[in-house]
Amino acid sequence: MDGVTAVILAAGEAKRMRSRQPKVLHPLAGRPLIAYALRTARAIADRVVMVVGPNADDVRAAAGDGVTFVEQRERLGTGHALGQARGACGSGPIVVLAGDMPLLSGETLEHLVGHHQATAAAATVLTAVADRPQGYGRILRQDGRVRRIVEDRDATDDQKKIAEINTSIYCFDARRLWPALAEVRTDNDQGEYYLTDVIGILAKAGGRIEAVTAPDPVEALGINDRRQLAAVAAILRRRILDRLMADGVTIVDPASTYIEDTVTLGPDTVVYPQVVLEGVTTFGTECVVGSGSHVTASRFGDRVTLKPYCIIAEAVVEDGATLGPFCHLRPGCHIGQKAKVGNFAELKKSRIGRGSKVPHVSYVGDTTVGADVNVGAGTVTCNYDGVAKHATTIGDGAFVGTNSSLVAPLTIGEGAYIGAGSTITKDVPPGALAVGRGAQVVKEGWTARKAKKHKSPEV
Ligand code: UD1
Ligand code: CA
Repeated sequence: MDGVTAVILAAGEAKRMRSRQPKVLHPLAGRPLIAYALRTARAIADRVVMVVGPNADDVRAAAGDGVTFVEQRERLGTGHALGQARGACGSGPIVVLAGDMPLLSGETLEHLVGHHQATAAAATVLTAVADRPQGYGRILRQDGRVRRIVEDRDATDDQKKIAEINTSIYCFDARRLWPALAEVRTDNDQGEYYLTDVIGILAKAGGRIEAVTAPDPVEALGINDRRQLAAVAAILRRRILDRLMADGVTIVDPASTYIEDTVTLGPDTVVYPQVVLEGVTTFGTECVVGSGSHVTASRFGDRVTLKPYCIIAEAVVEDGATLGPFCHLRPGCHIGQKAKVGNFAELKKSRIGRGSKVPHVSYVGDTTVGADVNVGAGTVTCNYDGVAKHATTIGDGAFVGTNSSLVAPLTIGEGAYIGAGSTITKDVPPGALAVGRGAQVVKEGWTARKAKKHKSPEV
């Protein structure tokens, strides 16, 4: 909206997280916590200011471009925090957000700002009616109008019974905010400058205070500790699954499915129970994701099937390919159209060409496999000599017999055959047969001779 500044308060110490990492960088459904406040702020404001504590380089880096940072050197309270942002704010409405409230919706915030402008209020507070208001600031009204906010720890027993709470999201008229903020004192239980006191100061001076109540109190849930982090994550995940189902994805068991906000799935894709999909991951249409699969930062075309228990990271898988059950794609794999990677196959930094198969019990690393190749059961690329990694290339249409060791660096030409059980150490030209194993020895009648020799004497 025109001329709106959003200020995100994110300098708190977050002691209750008991973490070495800043609270706002804890991951939540695939994004750092701060990303949610930034997304809502950017949607509403021309200008986004973030108040951070000292040593917040990681927070600044995670926030990215288009944000003005101000540092709150000493954590003297929410009022003091907002005061630090003054020089970075415009003269239009100032929207204050907390960095730790990821469930706030864009619509609710838009409604708050719209109401603030329509009523020409000095301040508009987003409130919520909470089942358990403990810990939150309470809204004190007189004749229906908001008079002030009292913090839980400063509240009387009667005030503690009030269910209407302060979400800590506000819209202020800039001209009235700054003088009122200058009047805030630290005469409270924590000895801090409370932003909440601005409401009482403005009301006392005859300013118009408006309140908008969030339609769903979950929007007010803040994350102060790891239990709340998990509880909010569960709500966010459910929203993600609802969105996917509305878009035509079948989620067989939402309760056991973990899909991050960064994942997209095409229509008619089916996700079986106990699946984890994370990072920037996309599936096309009509894919199947089997039970127990765990996929990170990968891209899948259409009609790809993951049979149960596929562990996949940073892979690209083209249309119609089939993976698993129990396959492991480590980072850097590219699986071509209609290719197949089967049970107990571990692949790393390898390309498998169109229609090729690595169906059973193999290790394939640093390898380029052409089209229509069959890699037999138990094949191992020996890509590491104890010092360095080496590459293997297998040409189109080649056939690698079962239980072969391919010692890299190695090139197997197009259409070549490798005899089962071979250890191949030298390049194989196109169309050739290579066999590298001990020649078979056959001794006729050996069993009978052995029996005779060892026959125990009769008694
Ligand atoms: C605050 C409100 C309370 C409201 C609750 C909603 C005050 C005094 N109280 O309490 O009425 O019900 O939010 O969740 O505002 N921060 C700073 N610098 C500071 C202190 C805090 O940047 O010196 C930031 C925090 O990082 C956080 C936000 O301000 O993002 C709120 O601070 P927090 O300490 O969590 O306030 P609450 O006690 O939850
Ligand atoms: Ca809080």
